[in-house]
Amino acid sequence: MQLIGADFLLICDEKFEILKNAGILFDKEQILEIGEYNELVKKSPQNTQYYKQSVITPALCNLHLHLEFAQNKGILNFGNFGRWLDSIIVNRDLLMSGNLEKEMQKDIKHLLQSGIGFVGAISSYGYDLEILAHSPLRVLYFNEVIGSKAEMVEALYQNTLMRLNASREFASERFFPALAIHSPYSVHPMLFSEILTLTKQENLPLSIHFLESYEEREWLEHKRGYFRDFFKKFFHTTMQPFYSIEAFLDSFKELQPYFVHCLQANKDELQKIKNLGGRLISCPKSNRLLNNTLLDLSLCQEVGISPIFATDGKSSNDTLSLLDELRVALYAYKGYDLEELAKILLLGVTYYAGKSCNIKIGSLQAGYKPDFAVFKVEAREQIALSLLLQAKTAEALYIAGEEINLRGDM
Ligand code: BEZ
Ligand code: FE2
Repeated sequence: MQLIGADFLLICDEKFEILKNAGILFDKEQILEIGEYNELVKKSPQNTQYYKQSVITPALCNLHLHLEFAQNKGILNFGNFGRWLDSIIVNRDLLMSGNLEKEMQKDIKHLLQSGIGFVGAISSYGYDLEILAHSPLRVLYFNEVIGSKAEMVEALYQNTLMRLNASREFASERFFPALAIHSPYSVHPMLFSEILTLTKQENLPLSIHFLESYEEREWLEHKRGYFRDFFKKFFHTTMQPFYSIEAFLDSFKELQPYFVHCLQANKDELQKIKNLGGRLISCPKSNRLLNNTLLDLSLCQEVGISPIFATDGKSSNDTLSLLDELRVALYAYKGYDLEELAKILLLGVTYYAGKSCNIKIGSLQAGYKPDFAVFKVEAREQIALSLLLQAKTAEALYIAGEEINLRGDM
């Protein structure tokens, strides 16, 4: 049994409750009790640590990133979705070669240093499998499926099964195998249907990039624009979209997937996602860099969706730090009350991220996982805002009740 305390505990529940001079009593399995530090000290006089001028939050959850794109720095084109996707196709092999492992290792260290304890990693190739499985992070490991050519469907399905089985070898309390469907424009209907069946059979979490760009919507809705030329240029065929937006969404009944981005989704489509029990993940910096757009938070509020926030990969971001991500969002969503916005953003990387999966995580309550981040913050009021403005790295991080070494070699 162990006790940690700080000037402020952000419980991260729906009401955004904050406790002052409070502590967390925990073991390796779970949080045992939350309360006044001075009271809890009586129950656990040994093994205690009080962090002064600090805030404790649940360890942050970054549920959408692509670790395999760790090497992108100045290689991919930003500022226009089509130019970016072209540059991905052209530079894919380059980005996967060289010293990828070293860069992924650096990114994992940086994730931990920025207070992240739980990631949703979209894996295109499986190069990130062992490195993530052997890291201290908790991981939702999404084996991603992509492929628009009919003649490749069977080979791609077999490849997916192989990667899924390889990831299952590491399944544990910390590591959860899952599936991802790249997007409606890139996955052939036969492959799509096989993956949906597999997801249902195995009861796996599922993630999908959805309506990220104007170009995607124009293609699905009007069968024209960037994607018509894209398939001609890179696949030498004249293609038709595989799905209407409505039919694509209707395929996910009973699956409650993560829909990532949804920048171009209208109110009816967001309502449909809500009715499906789907979750919405938003990556503001990536959305600015590729599409010059932000998710409409007021539309989400209208349909009752509480977004989860994540960074996406280095393919469309300069860091995987949620502190950076939320700080940028704080400045970008002008018109919102600052403290209220800071709370919405923080709950999107704690409570609502945790609520989306079958793990009791993302909130400081008895029975939840003992995963915490400690940040040095000087504040009397406006604690959420002060945290986002001041914290660049974590002071300490605990995952499964163990303090993670954030300095030296990990
Ligand atoms: C494919 O691999 O078939 C694909 C990749 C990106 C966009 C569309 C299709
Ligand atoms: Fe992504």
